Amino acid sequence: MARNRITTLQLDEDTDPDEIISRARKGMKYIGEGAFATVYGKPRGTSVIKIGSMGDNYISYAKEVVKNKTPNPFLPKISKLTIVKTGNDCYRDDFYIVEMERLIPLYDYSKRMYKGNIDDLMSLFSDMLEEDVPARVAVKSRTMEIGLPGIFKVNLAIKPNVVKHLSHLVRIINRSVRSSDGSTDIHSGNVMLRSNGQLVMTDPIS
Ligand SMILES: Nc1ncnc2c1ncn2[C@@H]1O[C@H](COP(=O)(O)OP(=O)(O)O)[C@@H](O)[C@H]1O
Ligand SMILES: [Mg+2]
Repeated sequence: MARNRITTLQLDEDTDPDEIISRARKGMKYIGEGAFATVYGKPRGTSVIKIGSMGDNYISYAKEVVKNKTPNPFLPKISKLTIVKTGNDCYRDDFYIVEMERLIPLYDYSKRMYKGNIDDLMSLFSDMLEEDVPARVAVKSRTMEIGLPGIFKVNLAIKPNVVKHLSHLVRIINRSVRSSDGSTDIHSGNVMLRSNGQLVMTDPIS
């Protein structure tokens, strides 16, 4: 497959980085931004681009996701990762362009569909990362004791592999933390949804 590639674009001193950015986001509209990145997409398009500084530790997660070969519905589908190195020798000016599937913000979706407590879900992820608890135990006890409602239960019912996928997700997140100087940043702004209700961990590191 030619997809899932990481490429580096080295600019010479005469090339304006803004030119690269405006070319990349041609025909696209602003969708949203966080502390580190801005996301653009074509109206009604099924993919988006996320542009951020190479100082954003998210990049180590994006690289792990692109390199990963085990299918996992919790991982965002990244079709292309371009690292743009500017000609001016300043690392902080380097940036990335990630092309990924378009997803739905949890809060937008939640107004219509999600009846449960989103914070329960987020603390589940946090527990799995911070406590020394195997993911399987964390998922089981949370599901039974708190009764994670809504999407997560449906997800669990449809996909018996969910525990395996969550453990795998946690391994990828932990690996990304170790290979950067970042820390986990798991909250409801960094988890999004596919149109089928699948939760996707978009931005777990900062
Ligand atoms: N795949 C996507 N599809 C649609 N919107 C997205 C996507 N990824 C991110 N966004 C929007 O852009 C915002 C910032 O993206 P995020 O990945 O959280 O970057 P940051 O590092 O800036 O927090 C998100 O809150 C979300 O609204
Ligand atoms: Mg974010």
